[in-house]
Amino acid sequence: MFSVLCDEQFSGPCSSRAQALLAWYRKHARDLPWRHTVDPYHIWISEIMLQQTQVATVLPRYAAWFDVFPDIATLAAARLDAVLKAWEGLGYYRRARFIHAAAQYVVEHQAGVFPGDVDTMLKLPGIGRSTAGAISSFCFGTYTPVLDGNVKRVLARWHGLPDVKDRALWQLAQQAIDASGEPDTWNQAMMELGATACQPKPACGHCPVNGFCESSFHVAAAGAKRDSIPVLDVHWRVHLHRHAERGIWLTRRPETGIWAGLWTPPITELSEAPDMPPTHIHLLTHRRIHLYAELLVGQPEGDGQWVPDTRTLALPTGIHRLLEKHGG
Ligand code: ADE
Repeated sequence: MFSVLCDEQFSGPCSSRAQALLAWYRKHARDLPWRHTVDPYHIWISEIMLQQTQVATVLPRYAAWFDVFPDIATLAAARLDAVLKAWEGLGYYRRARFIHAAAQYVVEHQAGVFPGDVDTMLKLPGIGRSTAGAISSFCFGTYTPVLDGNVKRVLARWHGLPDVKDRALWQLAQQAIDASGEPDTWNQAMMELGATACQPKPACGHCPVNGFCESSFHVAAAGAKRDSIPVLDVHWRVHLHRHAERGIWLTRRPETGIWAGLWTPPITELSEAPDMPPTHIHLLTHRRIHLYAELLVGQPEGDGQWVPDTRTLALPTGIHRLLEKHGG
């Protein structure tokens, strides 16, 4: 059984570390729109967007989302295509499908009201323990910790436990938030620290709690290296059929895999890099997709449709970039 050595300074009620972190957060935190609301629908959407997308990318999309889907009922009644369109450019489109399905669950089983308890939140697609902890603490002031990748790193470093397991981290996270006295601000502050001074490559000199950290100034470079993810190169030929009046021929991607459910020109996967430079390279977390545009004439074969205006459908950002390089 894992146990944590308790030290009043580190983890006692209103500990010095908690006070130092909360004071730093109040003074230096970024002014982000989802930090000005306790509305569960707004917080939920922001947390799902932020799961795998950078704050700078999320900012304009967060505001735009509520113009299209002002409430959960509107979202639930929308077509999946419209939801994917609103998600365009944020990546990891599975999240948009989850949001749509979750909104339908809320309308069907919760009278359209976002649940106020963690157990019911966990029934919603796309919401795990950490996201539920965030929503619940921000909206309802519960002592439910966030434990996303950033917060895991912060806690592991504080305690000098580079190989600590998730079960132990949840215990440490719970102890820390219990001692904070301010669960909502605490969760925000932990995420803020993980996104700033305590990134994979740490800036311990700028950390407000470096005096309370087992790892400060000692985080092994090897540790940072171990976190890095291998990237696989893939080579795709993109068949561009254009027609003066009818536009471009697009087909819908399968429901699983890269760019699932989005619209693209027909694509052929190549077994090796062709003897030409790629038209565009698109980066995903685990893939570097080399795209080779091929211009074709004549009637295309296979499933698809002519699309006069690509703004009307959800296309992956990589395809938008490729089309821009080929005359819009
Ligand atoms: N990442 C996940 N949740 C966040 C939040 N509320 N603020 C900033 N970054 C986050």
